[in-house]
Amino acid sequence: MPHPYRLIDEAAIPSPSLIFFPDIIRRNIAEVIAMAGGPGRLRPHCKTHKTVELAKLQLAAGVLKHKCATIAEAEMLAIADAPEVLIAYPLVGPNLHRFAKLIRKYPRTEFGAIADDPAMVKALSEVLASQGLSAEILVDLNVGQDRTGIDLAGAAELYPLLVRSPGLRPGGFHVYDGHNNMEHHEDREAAVRALLTPVLALRAKLERAGFPVPRVVCGGTPSFPIYATIRDVPGLECSPGTYVLQDYGYGSKYADLGAITPAAVLLTRVISKPTANRVTLDLGTKAVASDPPAGKRVHLLEFAPHTPVGHNEEHYIVETAHADRYRPGDVVYALPAHICPTVALHKEALIAENGLITGTWPILARDRVLTV
Ligand SMILES: Cc1ncc(COP(=O)(O)O)c(C=O)c1O
Repeated sequence: MPHPYRLIDEAAIPSPSLIFFPDIIRRNIAEVIAMAGGPGRLRPHCKTHKTVELAKLQLAAGVLKHKCATIAEAEMLAIADAPEVLIAYPLVGPNLHRFAKLIRKYPRTEFGAIADDPAMVKALSEVLASQGLSAEILVDLNVGQDRTGIDLAGAAELYPLLVRSPGLRPGGFHVYDGHNNMEHHEDREAAVRALLTPVLALRAKLERAGFPVPRVVCGGTPSFPIYATIRDVPGLECSPGTYVLQDYGYGSKYADLGAITPAAVLLTRVISKPTANRVTLDLGTKAVASDPPAGKRVHLLEFAPHTPVGHNEEHYIVETAHADRYRPGDVVYALPAHICPTVALHKEALIAENGLITGTWPILARDRVLTV
């Protein structure tokens, strides 16, 4: 079957280019809303797209709660007029003061943050309370990824400190389980249910002691199909990010994400045929993310059977018995294996509608600092 991304005006598009398809983006947003049982159960992570325009599509679909990793992403979401933004990344050093500045600069947006350490809770409290500000803070739980977060015993001690701290409102738990990336749905489901049981027991214990635990913000795209079906936990919010643009890495691995479709492609061209069986494309590591293992970074659409043999800053080299089919200048469409860092390599995405490029969206929050 021919792929659905081919553009009528491809001859005029510079390569390498990142191209977004808003019709597919809208469908992906509608699909996760349907899977989750309503937009209020979602808190998507914007790290994948980093654009005001895409955040506005989510807002237009009724998704009002958002999540991000950087102060620049939080500011981008505020510029999009998102009413609720959680910075799900530990704030330390000057970022504590930038957080306060953000709250002052964008009063229409409610900003929240996470903490996993008593000193961090105290620092947030000092910075906010001294300026007459306040913010909702979620305790970041380490539920097995061992990247950030505090274990449940530590959280039981930290939560009362959070409740007592001036300038801070207890927001509940942040539960990110990036390690739950098993291929089969049943394995992910068993892992999610096993991690939630003690988390919900801690929540019940804290609530019995009079400490409010209003929300539990859970997971990314791989665990989303499981959290989406858990409807009996009040305040459970699902926080997938990748789903909105989707990539070849997740798309080829998780059958239960079948209705989610890649909405971003790379347009690349053949630039050289250095040997009889090699074809080189202008899709180097500065155009497509190189964090997946070599040979698994990109999926070339409708390309003859080939083996990736080299990837440099500006070159992607494959070997194929069918090199004679290709000429320098030929256009090739490619799906990145990992879309989030791929997007961050591009200053803007071209927007494709009805087979034509109709505009561009700046990847605004690829910068670390906007104005705050
Ligand atoms: C804390 C946090 N939440 C949510 C996500 C979204 O995950 P995914 O990109 O798998 O949708 C990520 C991704 O890295 C993350 O780090």
